[in-house]
Amino acid sequence: MKKSASRPARIGFLDSGVGGLTVLQEALKLMPDEDYLFYADTGHVPYGEKTKEEVRGYVLEAADYIAGQGVKALVVACNTATSIAVDELRRRYDFPVLGIEPAVKPAVLREEGSRRKVLVLATALTLREEKYHRLVETVDPGERVDSLALPGLVRLAENFEFGEERVTAYLREAFEGVNCEAYGTVVLGCTHFPYFQQVLQRWFGPGVALISGGPGTARNLRRILESAGRRHEGTGRIDFCASGRDAEGSRNFGDWLDRLNRIR
Ligand code: DGL
Repeated sequence: MKKSASRPARIGFLDSGVGGLTVLQEALKLMPDEDYLFYADTGHVPYGEKTKEEVRGYVLEAADYIAGQGVKALVVACNTATSIAVDELRRRYDFPVLGIEPAVKPAVLREEGSRRKVLVLATALTLREEKYHRLVETVDPGERVDSLALPGLVRLAENFEFGEERVTAYLREAFEGVNCEAYGTVVLGCTHFPYFQQVLQRWFGPGVALISGGPGTARNLRRILESAGRRHEGTGRIDFCASGRDAEGSRNFGDWLDRLNRIR
């Protein structure tokens, strides 16, 4: 297909911070030839500790900025933002808007017939939202899904604190009183959590599956672009932008992507 100058070829990605890079990494594996615009709303991170109204405002503002830059699709690479605003964003723009939600359904299917349970790790706001409760009610008639908010992992990832000792100390505190042996599948329902994939795997043990929605979202994005005839339009360029203190380009997002590429 012929490219026209007025037709945006970039794919927008939005998160409260560096979590969205775990989804961008999956998209890059499938589509290294596309161009991306990654927006981190670091002036307002963490979304998971804010009210629904606050997060709605931040997400609309960030998404309007991205839309204004010109994109052919927008990936809301944040479970919290998706649960609050994805429906509204879909009505607002004429390009496809994809979201990400905790992969509860595949987790429940994986434990079908087993005696072990599913644990969903996400932000407090995602877990409070009606969208999450409806999802669990639909896919989990046997009531085998538990959930836990881990705000400390968002903070650690934002501060580039990945040292095993520091992270394990936080997990010890966060999982106090939780019988981790009850779980066979753990859902990483926040895009910041895949940074801790290895340490979480060691925490839960090798027999426990950790699943996240990133790979599925990236496949979905590819499918949507293919069916619209809009694949292979870029050169593999990634532009990063952020709000707040990082707006001047002070944060090097490449460091986080390098970190991810070393562990996954
Ligand atoms: N990365 C986000 C998510 O997937 C939100 C983290 C936060 O800002 O609290 O939910």
